[in-house]
Amino acid sequence: TTPYTILASAGCLPERTVTNDDLAARMDTSDEWIRQRTGIRTRHIAGPAETTSTLCTTVAQQLLAQAGISADQLSYILVATMSPDYATPATAAQVQGRIGARHAVAFDLSAACSGFVYSLHVMQRLLAGSEKRYGLVLGGEVLSRLVDWHDRSTAVLFGDGAGGVLVSNRGPGAYLGADLRTLGDQGDALTARQLAAGDDPQAAYLHMNGRRVYSFAVREVPRSLTQAVANAGLTLAQVDHFCLHQANARIVAQVAKDLDQPASKFPLNIAQVGNTAAASEPLLLAENIANGTIQRGDVVACCGFGGGLTVGTVVLRY
Ligand code: ACO
Repeated sequence: TTPYTILASAGCLPERTVTNDDLAARMDTSDEWIRQRTGIRTRHIAGPAETTSTLCTTVAQQLLAQAGISADQLSYILVATMSPDYATPATAAQVQGRIGARHAVAFDLSAACSGFVYSLHVMQRLLAGSEKRYGLVLGGEVLSRLVDWHDRSTAVLFGDGAGGVLVSNRGPGAYLGADLRTLGDQGDALTARQLAAGDDPQAAYLHMNGRRVYSFAVREVPRSLTQAVANAGLTLAQVDHFCLHQANARIVAQVAKDLDQPASKFPLNIAQVGNTAAASEPLLLAENIANGTIQRGDVVACCGFGGGLTVGTVVLRY
């Protein structure tokens, strides 16, 4: 096991909330359909001044304050996002500039809803055995600017927000194991792209084959969790918390059942935030660390899945 400690964790959600009933007032859907199919009740939607970089910058400032570390002690900043403000500069570079982390190397990582888990793994590799000491791993999204608000099959699912952790290669925590996979031949199940001149405006929007992604998730997530936990030299019973990407409460329940683990080990916050892609796991981690559910010494398996298609699990001792 390698020392790898989450020293601080934080989240930032846009002020404005949009309930299922608000959505039902503008499209052909209902609170009942959304709650039953997904578990979502409300989500936060960015206002005009809130962007992926502003949300991530707020998280970064909270992390530094919580850990009592100054910006110039940071060596790396990674931001996982599929909805950056710009193609360039990277969101991480914007954050680096705004917080004044002049010694930090900063770049974005694009792996949709697996982005935070992929980034946790990359950061561990960057810091392992290095004299560098601190890194920020952030996930942030403003998915409300990618979804087609006329398409009820996707518009009801997503929310905006950012979350992150400040990690160190010292301290009581440990990196125990991981399993990352990419299934690029299935990438057409979930796509979103920026427009080029002359493109059909519809092409910009997020398109998802919900059923395909659902069956991918319930097949690959248990497989990835099982493999990562085995790589960590542990059994599933020895994992205290399974922090899964919040795409659908039914996927989480199905995975718990499949692994024969109690639902109480699978924290949920999808009811309040919806699917926030790369921000999903850091928001869930921050909430459960803040409320005392996740305690020092606990084993946490963090699993993301989504666009790419991608899936990834990291197993940590908090
Ligand atoms: N309100 C009311 N009815 C709706 C809505 C809505 N918002 N959306 C779809 N419907 C209708 C459909 O038109 C369909 O009607 P029909 O039977 O008359 O044709 C019916 O509801 C069922 O639609 P399905 O798409 O088959 O519904 P399903 O039970 O599969 O649920 C869902 C859809 C929630 C999207 C599910 O497939 C899912 O969660 N998939 C996984 C998504 C996921 O995990 N994404 C993760 C990655 S996200 C990322 O990487 C950014």
